Amino acid sequence: MDLLVDPAPLRQQCQKWRSQGLGIALVPTMGFLHAGHLSLFDHARTLAGRLVVSIFVNPAQFGPGEDLDRYPRDLPRDLELCRAHGVDLVFAPEPGAMYHPDHAAWIDVPELGAGLCGASRPGHFRGVCTVVAKLFGLVRPHVAVFGEKDWQQLAILRRMTRDLELGVTIVGRPIFREPDGLALSSRNVNLTPEERAGAPAIRQGLLLVQKAARAGQLDAAALGLIFRRHLAEKLPAARLDYAEFVHPEALTPAARLEAPALLAVAVFLGRVRLIDNILLEV
Ligand code: PAF
Repeated sequence: MDLLVDPAPLRQQCQKWRSQGLGIALVPTMGFLHAGHLSLFDHARTLAGRLVVSIFVNPAQFGPGEDLDRYPRDLPRDLELCRAHGVDLVFAPEPGAMYHPDHAAWIDVPELGAGLCGASRPGHFRGVCTVVAKLFGLVRPHVAVFGEKDWQQLAILRRMTRDLELGVTIVGRPIFREPDGLALSSRNVNLTPEERAGAPAIRQGLLLVQKAARAGQLDAAALGLIFRRHLAEKLPAARLDYAEFVHPEALTPAARLEAPALLAVAVFLGRVRLIDNILLEV
């Protein structure tokens, strides 16, 4: 497995593989890998002859006062995991290698990025789109794989790739969960033991809503109330950032669940912000 920290040799190596007729799959990550990432690698491995993983905590997608400094990092451990999961090349640049001091070009998809996480994290998706477009430009992968926990991110990256004709197939993979239902996230390590013990209530709330929808309650406001009440009762210390029903692709608000809708939620537990979602097909 190769480890590269500079864009030029990455571009060169990927160009070489393409000229040999090899397909390239890319899994962009911010490191501190967990089983969810590894499941993306395992799937990506089946889609192309070479697998590239990027590990880069992208400063451009963190706002002032967010957890850029607290974001967990452990490159030696990540490299071991990548090796064990058949990754061919890890690209782990420093911010200075990814952004010129006078970097001035940004990609934004405001129609999809203004609501949900974008409302409480202004500029976040602009940072995500820009770094992913840069990675696509360097690697020129045939396929890129992302997790569905960041559903909004996935929808935005699909739209960016389509609208800019980037020629990359975007693949989304299901959320990977702990046995108690908590969605895996690198940020889970920052939860206190009490917060960690209570966190599965988020998933339980999503399942309660699914049950109510399946029983015939199609009004988004009423379903939203079920989630809020559940959270207030089971996790009184939590602060709900949002719980919204949206169209799964357009991310526009859904008032009634007559067509499939996504319930996306973001919850603060102490200083940790957790996101989760469920696709409701009633
Ligand atoms: O989902 C993530 O880990 C990041 O947003 C991504 C896609 C690697 C871009 O930095």
